[in-house]
Amino acid sequence: MQSTSYSNLFDEISRKDKIIKNRDVLETTYLPNNFPHRDEEVRNLAEILQPSLDGSKPSNILIYGQTGTGKTAITQYVCRQLSEKSRESKKEVKMIYINCKQTSTAYGILSRIGQEVLGKKENEIPIAGWRTEQIYEIVRKRIENEKINVVIVLDEVDALVQRAGSDILYYLTGMNVDLVNSKMSLIGISNNVGFTKNIDPRVKSRLGEESMTFSPYNASQLIDILQQRAGEAFNQGMVDKLVIRLCAGRAAQEHGDARQALDLLRIAVDIAERDGVENVDVSYVERAQSRMEEDQLKKVILTLPLQHKAILSSIVLNELYARLKTQTTGDVQEVYSNVCERLELDELTGRRVSQILSELEMHGLISARIVSWGRQGRSRTIKLEIGRREIRKIMKKDSYMDDILKRAGEGLLRRKQLRFA
Ligand SMILES: Nc1ncnc2c1ncn2[C@@H]1O[C@H](COP(=O)(O)OP(=O)(O)OP(=O)(O)O)[C@@H](O)[C@H]1O
Ligand SMILES: [Mg+2]
Repeated sequence: MQSTSYSNLFDEISRKDKIIKNRDVLETTYLPNNFPHRDEEVRNLAEILQPSLDGSKPSNILIYGQTGTGKTAITQYVCRQLSEKSRESKKEVKMIYINCKQTSTAYGILSRIGQEVLGKKENEIPIAGWRTEQIYEIVRKRIENEKINVVIVLDEVDALVQRAGSDILYYLTGMNVDLVNSKMSLIGISNNVGFTKNIDPRVKSRLGEESMTFSPYNASQLIDILQQRAGEAFNQGMVDKLVIRLCAGRAAQEHGDARQALDLLRIAVDIAERDGVENVDVSYVERAQSRMEEDQLKKVILTLPLQHKAILSSIVLNELYARLKTQTTGDVQEVYSNVCERLELDELTGRRVSQILSELEMHGLISARIVSWGRQGRSRTIKLEIGRREIRKIMKKDSYMDDILKRAGEGLLRRKQLRFA
C-alpha cells in the first residue's frame, strides 16, 4: 500500500492553515466590536437604553428586519456595553438574552428569567408544575429584592407568540408597573414584520414603545462588512479582493443578508484550505455556493414529514427505475401504493397525495404541469427538479428514504421489467 511520509504530520496540517489567521472571527457566534453601516442603529439603541444607567426604566423596544441584518448581533453588543458601563455605577444593569425558538413557553421564559436574576444562588423554581401566576409572582419578587435594572431580550419573539400566544408578553410588559425598587424593560426582536398582527393591541403598544427597523444590506455595504471581517480573519494577500466582491454580490442579490455573505466566504476559504492552495480565488466562491445550495436542499428534504418523504421517494423511484422523465399522478400513485405496502405505511387518499405534491412543488423539489388529454380530460404531469445523483446521495443519508430505495426500488424494477418484457 502506498503511503505519504511527513516529517511531522502536524507541520503538514499547520502549513495548510496559512490562509486563516483567526478562525473564531468567522464563526457565527463571534461578536465584532464594530458594525459598518449600522452606526445609526447602534447609537439609537444605546440612547433608548441609556436611562437604565441612571436607574430609570428605558422604553421597551421592538426591532424588526429581515434575516441577517444584524439585529441579534447589534442588540447583544449594545446590551453588553451597557452592562459593562453599569458596573462602574452602583446600580447594575443585567441583560438577560433569551432565544424564543429555543425557549418558547411562558413557563420556560419565566423560569429562565428567575434563574438568571438569581445567578448561581439556589433555584427553587421547578422545571414544571407551577401555575404561570405563581411563577410570575416568584420572579417578580426576585427582581424586586435584587434592586437591579434588567433588560430582557426576547429574540425571535414571533416564535413565542406563535407557540404560547401573547399573554406572556402581557405579563412581562406589566411587571414593571408592579416593581418599586427594580426596573425591567424588554427588547423584542423579530424578522417577521407581520407578527404584531397576531398579538393583543395592548401588548403591541406596551412592547413597541419604541421600534426600529433594520434594512437589508446592499452589495457595497456587504463588501465593507466582509472586508472588515476578512482583515481580522485572514493573513494578508491570501484571499482575492474579487472573492469578497463576489460573496457580497451574491448575498446582495438574494436578501442582503450578512450571514449568508459571511457563510459563503467562510466555506469558500475552508474548501480552499483543504485543497491546500495558497491563494483563494473566485472559483472557490462557486464551489462554496453549490455546497450551500446542496446543504439547503438536504435540509429541506431531510426535514420533510414521513408521507412527504414517501411520495417524493416514489417520484424518484419512477425516475431511477422506470426511467420516467415526466410522470403522471397515476404513475406516482402506483409506486406510492407499493411503497406503503412494503413499508407498512397508511396509504393516503388521492386528494391528500395531490396536496402533498403541491407542497413538494412549493419547496421547488418537483415541478408540475397540467396537460389536457382532449375528451379524456386533464391530468398533472410531474417532473423531478433535482439531479438523480444528488437526490440519491441525500436519500442515502435518511434511513427511512434509504429503506424505500432498497425495498421498494428492487420490487419496482422487477415489476416494470415484467410489464415491458
Ligand atoms: N453591520 C455589520 N457589521 C459586521 N457584521 C455584521 C453586521 N451586520 C450583521 N453582521 C454579522 O452577520 C451575521 C448575521 O447577523 P445577525 O445574527 O445579527 O442577524 P439577524 O438580523 O439577527 O438575523 P435573523 O433574523 O436571521 O436572526 C452575524 O455574524 C453578524 O455578526
Ligand atoms: Mg437573529
